[in-house]
Amino acid sequence: MSGGRGFDPRFMQELKQKNDIIEVVSGYVSLDKKGNTHWACCPFHHERTPSFAVNQAEQFYHCFGCGVSGDVVKFVQEIESTDFMGAVRILAARAKMPVPENNFDTEKSVELKKKRDEMAAIMLDCARFYLSNLYSGDKRAEVHLQYIQNRKMTPTTVKKFGIGASLDFFSLPDYLAGKKYSRQNLLDSGALTETKTGKLVDSQAGRLIFPIINAFDEVVAFGGRLLEKSDFAKYKNTKETLLFNKSKTLYNINLLKKLKRKQPIKDVIIVEGYMDTISLYQAGFENVVASMGTSLTKEQARLVKRYSNNVLISYDGDFAGQKADLRGLEILKDEQLNVRVVPMPEGLDPDDVAKQGAAAYQKCLDAAMPLIDYKLHAVQRKYDLSRSEEKRRFVAEALQVVAEAESESVKEELLKKLRDQTGISYHALERDLQNAKKNASQAEEIKPQTMEQTRIVETASGTDKRVKAVRFILAAKLFSATYAKGYDVQGLALSDSSHKEIAKFIADRENAGENMRASELFEILDEDDPELGAIFDLNWEDKLTGETAERFFRDSVKTLEREALERRIAELNEAFAAETDLEKRKALQRQILDCVQKSNRLRK
Ligand code: UTP
Ligand code: MN
Repeated sequence: MSGGRGFDPRFMQELKQKNDIIEVVSGYVSLDKKGNTHWACCPFHHERTPSFAVNQAEQFYHCFGCGVSGDVVKFVQEIESTDFMGAVRILAARAKMPVPENNFDTEKSVELKKKRDEMAAIMLDCARFYLSNLYSGDKRAEVHLQYIQNRKMTPTTVKKFGIGASLDFFSLPDYLAGKKYSRQNLLDSGALTETKTGKLVDSQAGRLIFPIINAFDEVVAFGGRLLEKSDFAKYKNTKETLLFNKSKTLYNINLLKKLKRKQPIKDVIIVEGYMDTISLYQAGFENVVASMGTSLTKEQARLVKRYSNNVLISYDGDFAGQKADLRGLEILKDEQLNVRVVPMPEGLDPDDVAKQGAAAYQKCLDAAMPLIDYKLHAVQRKYDLSRSEEKRRFVAEALQVVAEAESESVKEELLKKLRDQTGISYHALERDLQNAKKNASQAEEIKPQTMEQTRIVETASGTDKRVKAVRFILAAKLFSATYAKGYDVQGLALSDSSHKEIAKFIADRENAGENMRASELFEILDEDDPELGAIFDLNWEDKLTGETAERFFRDSVKTLEREALERRIAELNEAFAAETDLEKRKALQRQILDCVQKSNRLRK
C-alpha cells in the first residue's frame, strides 16, 4: 500500500529530503549515471542489462524491465520486504529522525494493516486446511479426488496450485475456532458465512477449492467448484474483500511472477477459467493467467503489462459472438499491448484442447491472429456464403471491420482476403469501403443534440482522446514543462477522481508558490493508480520535451476547450428546444451560434 497519509506531511517531506533516493538506492545496488538518470540492473527482477532507472530531480525510480516504480519509501519497502511503517522506521533511523507517535491517522492505518494481515493469515490457514482434507483419507474427499482424476490433474499440479477440498459446513469453522481469530475478521475475509441463527459456516462447503493467490504470494480468495450438476452456479468466488478485488486480480499471477524471474516472458496467454489455466500450465504453457470469467478490465491489462507487452487471448470458441468480450480486447489495445487472438475449435475451451496434448494446443497458438483478422473471422462464421443474401450481409459487416484497420496496407491485405472469400472484385469492394466510410464520416459530422447524445459520442471515440489530453496537460504541469507555465489547471472540467486529485495538488502548489515535486503524489494516491502511472510514463518516455510536446500540449488544451464548448452547445440546444418565449429563443440561438463559431475557430 501507498502511505504517508497517516503522517504529518511535513514529517514525510523532511524524511524524504534527508534520504536522497540516489544515496539510499546506492546502498543496495551500484548506480551508473548517464545524463539525468542513474541506471542499475533491477534489484527486483533478474536481468543482465540495466533497465532500472532512478531520477534524482524527481526522486523516484522506475524499472523498464518489470514495471515497478515508486519513491524512496516504496523502494525500501520492496527491497527490505517490509511494509510502509517498516520503511519509514528504517529511513528515519538512517536520517537520525524520531518517528512521530500518537497520530490518529497512523493508528487508523495501523489498524487497517493489522486487519488485512489477519485476514491474509485466515485465508492461508483455510488454504492449508482444504489441502490437508484432500489427502486426509476422509471418505468424503473421495468425490474430490475422483473429480481431480477425471479432469486429469496430476498430483504435482494439485500441489502447485494448492488445490483443496471442503468436506462440509462445519469442520473449517471448528478448525479456525482454535486459532484466536476475531469473529469479524473471519466473516470479513469471506472464508466463513453467518447463518440466520448466527452460526459460522464454511462459505465454500463441499466444493473443490482453487486458491486465488496474488503476486505477493498471499491467498486472497477461493474459487470453489461444485462437483455435481445442480442449479447453483458452477463456481463460487469469495466475495470482494479488503484482500480481494476481482477486477484487479488475475488467476495464476503468482506463478507468472515466478516465471518472469527465471526468464523473460515473450507473451502472456489470457484464458477465462481456472481449469483452462491449470491444464495449459500442466501441458507446459506456463505463461498463462485467467481473467476468471468476466470481461477484462483496465487494471488487469495493466497488471499483465508488467510481465509482457504481448498478449494472446485464448477464450472459448464462441466468445466472439459476445460483444462484451471484444470490448475487453479493446481495453488491452488501449494499454498499448499487442493483442492476438487464438482461434479455438467450435465448442471447445483451452482446457479441452490441452487435454488432447500440448501439440494440439500449440497448433492453435500457431494460428493466433491479430485482433482485426479475428473479428473478420468471427463475422464470417455467422454467415453461409453460399447463399447470396447472406453473402451480401457478410460483405457489409466485414467492410465495417476492415474500415477499422490502422494502415492502408492492412486494409489492402484484408480486402484481398475478402475478394478470395466472396469472388467479388477488389475494385468493387474498395469502392464499397469508401462509400461506407463517407457515410460514417457524414454521420460523425452531425452534432449531438442532447446531453445524452453528447455522452454517447463521448464514450465512443472522444474519451480516449480526451483522457490523453488531460493526462498530457497534467504531466506537463507536474513536471514543470516551460510551455505549460501560466496554464491554470483549475479550469479543467475533470471527471476522473485521480485526475482531480492531481490537478488539486498542482493548483495547491502553484498557489502556495512552492516547487512541484511529482513524487509527493505517491502519498496522495496509490502507487498502483493507473492514471498516476500513465502520467508518470509520459515523463519517463521523454514525451514532455521538445517541439512536438509543445504542439501536443496546445492541441490538448484545444481538444478540451472544444469539448467543453460542445457540451455547452448541447446544453443550449436542449434549452432552446424547451423554450417557448420568442425573445428567449432568439437569445439562446445567439449563444449557440457564438459557441459554434468559437468551436470552429478552435478546429482550425
Ligand atoms: P466457464 O463456464 O467457461 O467454466 O467459466 P470452465 O472454466 O470451463 O469450467 P469447467 O471447465 O466446467 O470447470 C470460466 C470461468 O468463469 C468463472 C470461473 O472463474 C470460471 O473458471 N465463473 C464461471 C464463475 O466465477 N462462476 C460461474 O458460475 C461460472
Ligand atoms: Mn471448461
